[in-house]
Amino acid sequence: MRTQVVIIGAGPAGLMLSQLLHLQGIDSVVLEARDRAYIEQRVRAGVLEHGTMELLREAGVGERMDADGLPHNGIYLRLDGRSHHVDFVELTGRSIKVYGQQEVVKDLIACRLADGGDVRFDCSEVALHDVTGARPRVSFAYNGAEHTVEADWIAGCDGFHGVSRGHVPGEVLQRRYPFAWLGILAHAAPSSDELIYATHDKGFALHSVRSPTVTRNYLQVRIDEDLAEWPDERIWGELATRLAGDDGFRLITGDIFEKSVTPMRSFVHEPMRAGRLLLAGDAAHIVPPTGAKGMNLAIADVRVLSHALGRWATTGCTTGLDAYSDTALGRVWRVTHFSWWMTAMLHRFAGYDAASTRFDEQLQRSQLRYTVSSRAALTTLAENYVGMPFDTGWCYR
Ligand code: FAD
Ligand code: PHB
Repeated sequence: MRTQVVIIGAGPAGLMLSQLLHLQGIDSVVLEARDRAYIEQRVRAGVLEHGTMELLREAGVGERMDADGLPHNGIYLRLDGRSHHVDFVELTGRSIKVYGQQEVVKDLIACRLADGGDVRFDCSEVALHDVTGARPRVSFAYNGAEHTVEADWIAGCDGFHGVSRGHVPGEVLQRRYPFAWLGILAHAAPSSDELIYATHDKGFALHSVRSPTVTRNYLQVRIDEDLAEWPDERIWGELATRLAGDDGFRLITGDIFEKSVTPMRSFVHEPMRAGRLLLAGDAAHIVPPTGAKGMNLAIADVRVLSHALGRWATTGCTTGLDAYSDTALGRVWRVTHFSWWMTAMLHRFAGYDAASTRFDEQLQRSQLRYTVSSRAALTTLAENYVGMPFDTGWCYR
């Protein structure tokens, strides 16, 4: 079997790359380890940046997002119970949409399959060969048989635990945070017209939504937190305490149908290419979710990659591919900084001596007070949250 680009992983990065290549007449085969139902139901990110929305529309997969996604014009930052609205539209002229990652994945799969795209689920023993040599190829087991697909390029879009990154020699730059997020999905109406990011002595909390009848809420918890110690009443009680506000806020509770604990980390693998293997999305980098960036960054990577592959396919020129890692890493580091900054500003950090902890808390408070009272600081937050524009000079290294 032969194709132009073999894509490992059918998450947002792999599927979107396959779609963007298809629109340029470039063939690809997508190999996914999990079954279709699993990846269509996997609950993860929820916020789409302005540029991600535009790209989904341009790629012909924006219809359901436009019909069902919830437009948001800003967020609330809640500090000691006092709410401060960050008005993205007023500050940047742009906005965001809340639309679950699994819905984006469903839309992309439906579109690829309707166009006759080659997306294979339930692949096992996926192995990369000769990525820096003359015959790059991927072997895998599918439907009870062994297969090998040869390709001009291999796109490693297989997430943080995938096999691709191991074939790219380079440097890992990372930071682990001493806490995790306990996330829930509940059948409950939204308690607020915008997302609430709350910082509180008991830790960070976030109120988000998925639909007019489903909310998504998060609590900062210990990194080794045992979910068994968090019955529903405790979760609702803790959310109500941390999210409490001076604006008449009342938390609407309901039946919790999903609970998970996600440790926080920042991780960047440099470079994002070795020979004919190109990494994109979580395969190359992870950000803590405080800035709502993970999926958006994965989509931004494959936008750059699809342009570079488009140029190669039409002209044979590899200049864009040679520049891919540096170009993508420019945005990766901007987003890594923003996600770290939001995380550092909003969470309680334990584990230091008492004087250092107090010192850090005073710095946090000062930063928060400045952020909510300075138009310049609010604009910085807003333009990063809605997503820095593509194709401007700011991101190049
Ligand atoms: P993924 O979505 O991870 O997709 C990679 C795909 O590759 C998967 O389908 C996987 O099954 C497949 N794969 C793996 N190994 C192989 C293999 N060997 N062969 C073939 N296929 C393989 N971001 C936010 O902004 N907000 C959030 O609230 C948030 N919550 C998250 C919760 C969790 C538990 C996780 C893990 C991530 C979360 N993220 C969140 C991050 C966001 O979801 C990711 O950044 C996004 O999924 C990246 O997309 P991707 O396509 O690069 O990788
Ligand atoms: C979500 O809705 O899942 C969500 C929203 C904002 C974040 C992180 C997660 O910063």
